[in-house]
Amino acid sequence: MTTTMEDIVALCKRRGFVYPTSDIYGGLTSSYDYGPAGAELLRNIRNIWWNYFIKRRTDMVGLDSQILLHPNTWVASGHVSAFNDPLVEDKKTHKRYRADHLIEAWIQQHPDKALVVEDLTIDQMGEFIAANTIKSPDGNELTRPQKFNLLFETKLGVVEGEKSTLYMRGETAQGIFTNFKNIIDSTRVTFPFGVGQIGKSFRNEITTGQFIFRTIELEQAEIEYFFDPETTDWKTLMDEWKSAMWDFVTKELGVSAAHLRWRQHTDKERSHYSKDTYDLDYEFPFGWKELWGIAYRTNYDLTQHANLSKADLTYTDPKTGKKFIPHVIEPALGINRTFFMLLADAYRKEPARNTTHSVAGGEMRTVLAVKPALAPTSIAVFPLVANKPELVEKAKSVFLDLSKRFSVAWDARGNIGKRYLSQDEVGTPWCVTIDYTTLEDDTVTVRDRDTAVQERRNVTELSAYFQKKLDTIE
Ligand code: GAP
Repeated sequence: MTTTMEDIVALCKRRGFVYPTSDIYGGLTSSYDYGPAGAELLRNIRNIWWNYFIKRRTDMVGLDSQILLHPNTWVASGHVSAFNDPLVEDKKTHKRYRADHLIEAWIQQHPDKALVVEDLTIDQMGEFIAANTIKSPDGNELTRPQKFNLLFETKLGVVEGEKSTLYMRGETAQGIFTNFKNIIDSTRVTFPFGVGQIGKSFRNEITTGQFIFRTIELEQAEIEYFFDPETTDWKTLMDEWKSAMWDFVTKELGVSAAHLRWRQHTDKERSHYSKDTYDLDYEFPFGWKELWGIAYRTNYDLTQHANLSKADLTYTDPKTGKKFIPHVIEPALGINRTFFMLLADAYRKEPARNTTHSVAGGEMRTVLAVKPALAPTSIAVFPLVANKPELVEKAKSVFLDLSKRFSVAWDARGNIGKRYLSQDEVGTPWCVTIDYTTLEDDTVTVRDRDTAVQERRNVTELSAYFQKKLDTIE
């Protein structure tokens, strides 16, 4: 059964993964909040990325720079002049759309007119829209496309008229470039080495109906990997990073390789700073789209910052005395898109499995079959019934003991079958039920999410049992 966007959006709302931002006020454009299950899943994604790319490598260090940087950062980086999207407006409703997105949607209906939209200039997009009388989704005429800068502006200062303009960062990368000298001077890194950071970025995106795929506030996990192009071949380095990215998604996140592909950017499509770019695309419910980008940014950024700030951003090799401005390879991942991909990849709808507790015949269950290490909660603990204090007390002590080491949920509501189904939907790999037998022999039932098989385990061995499972499951 193919998973649809509606399946995912409904699960997200039903089980507390994602809510529309400011829901009670009718929402805010392209903005979403992450609920209790979503917050845990996001945290797990961040931690797994940080462990894999920063902590487990000898050539990487981490950083946490600000969202608001000196405004010249964005002048030097080229974002003030070149971080643009092509905008068209519905002449009647005044709703705004991305011209390239409307053309792409139109081409899907008219495959005989297929072309590479990324290769069109803004004027060519205007001509294409006019020549094919492409209309807005509401069926109205469109304005000619105009360049629209994606940076969010804000003001610094308290006195009206004397406030200065700042930009909310459009990518986390720039904080790494502006700290390059600090990092070189304060750590013992040697070339080649990388700096990674995770944080929020902001883009004034014009987007419709893509849920958390494209939002105005987003979280990025970016790496700038600095190297000397005379001693390190950039193509080889890019291939090494591409294979690290692929391994991370398929092995660490457990995503099916059948839904992944590499796509090289065309010359016209590439960002102003890049000499070569690949996207790692995932097959989302609405088609193949970018999950992760990798770009060879050369020494464009450090050179631009050195020129505008007048800071010396050359590196002097302590052994040879050679001076150079390092080049970078940049793997740039979106945490929210990773979240979306994991939900889409792990979503299963199947007949509810037979368990010893009541599940009505013919009932379906939704299972989020994420890797146990990613699941919002690892274990759910249930007293069989909530009105027997001795069961609740024992279950609480099991909960407290397990929660010292694991992320544990508590549920004492309704029948056990329903509780299992509810945990399946948030991806909890194991449920522990404390029943009357527990009071006699100190054993509990442990129920497995994927097989629905239940087995009895001794309370004293639970912690070691779950730790072993988490450590060994691929
Ligand atoms: N520093 C390079 C850079 O920012 P990008 O391709 O614009 O490159 C990197 O962004 C990643 O950030 C993308 O691959 C995507 O996963 C994520 N991303 C970009 N814009 C986004 C948006 N509006 N909403 C959610 N994620 C976004």
